[in-house]
Amino acid sequence: MSTTEQRVAIVTGGARGIGAATAVRLAAEGRAVAVIDLDEAACKETVESITGAGGRAIGVGADVSDEAQVVAAVARVAEELGAPTILVNNAGVLRDNLLFKMSAADWDTVLNVHLRGAFLMTRAVQKHMVDAKFGRVVNLSSSSALGNRGQANYSAAKAGMQGFTKTLAIELGKFGVTANAVAPGFIVTDMTAATAARVGMGFEEFQAAAAGQIPVQRVGRPEDVANAIAFFTGEAAGFVSGQVLYIAGGPLD
Ligand SMILES: NC(=O)c1ccc[n+]([C@@H]2O[C@H](COP(=O)([O-])OP(=O)(O)OC[C@H]3O[C@@H](n4cnc5c(N)ncnc54)[C@H](O)[C@@H]3O)[C@@H](O)[C@H]2O)c1
Repeated sequence: MSTTEQRVAIVTGGARGIGAATAVRLAAEGRAVAVIDLDEAACKETVESITGAGGRAIGVGADVSDEAQVVAAVARVAEELGAPTILVNNAGVLRDNLLFKMSAADWDTVLNVHLRGAFLMTRAVQKHMVDAKFGRVVNLSSSSALGNRGQANYSAAKAGMQGFTKTLAIELGKFGVTANAVAPGFIVTDMTAATAARVGMGFEEFQAAAAGQIPVQRVGRPEDVANAIAFFTGEAAGFVSGQVLYIAGGPLD
């Protein structure tokens, strides 16, 4: 690839947290980055931290679980930045509850954002990857894929992301496209802050309790995940596909 060509990456849920750190990191790797989130205005901070450092980025408002919005968002990215060939399916929500109290609406919301969202986004972007004979898909799984109390919906979605990833790797490999999943443990973001609030703990206390259970004795930061995503989306990772990398400060299986 010549130095005048710049690969275009899409990061969903890029307005904050792991997605924002990933967007900034991929821009530092020389990618043009489309930051997709529910509200375009909420993407401003991430976009400005990229453009302020001399990079190219746009914010796009879209709900990844809405088919028409996804198609329109990907078309806009192709038009304004160029054909996207890197996709990070990061958008996510929690609707935690014990099974007997979990509503069908909360089940559907979580499955729709994570799984349907990743499906719709990947289906919309794959044509650009196939045409370019190059693509990198990274899906956000979670240590909760192994099972987690109060997260029947979320753990099912995050285990589903792993099967989805492996199937993408098998179907798209012959087009130069790799697909991998990262499965973070405890990462300090608004999502884990909300979990602390739900269980009635201060966020500092919640983090300290989590860190005590983690072999490296600290909680994770969004950059810990962004670093791994930078590897999987890199030119050098073309023979690594269908893998799930736990990023949890210790072994999980
Ligand atoms: N924080 C953790 O400890 C942790 C651990 C494992 C996995 N993850 C996963 O990492 C990803 C990012 O998590 P985070 O902690 O940064 O969360 P976060 O809540 O801080 O950010 C999630 C972002 O996704 C966006 N989003 C939600 N629904 C959307 C939709 N339908 N369409 C578009 N955007 C949408 C939100 O607006 C938000 O900006 C999620 O998939 C999450 O499940 C997080």
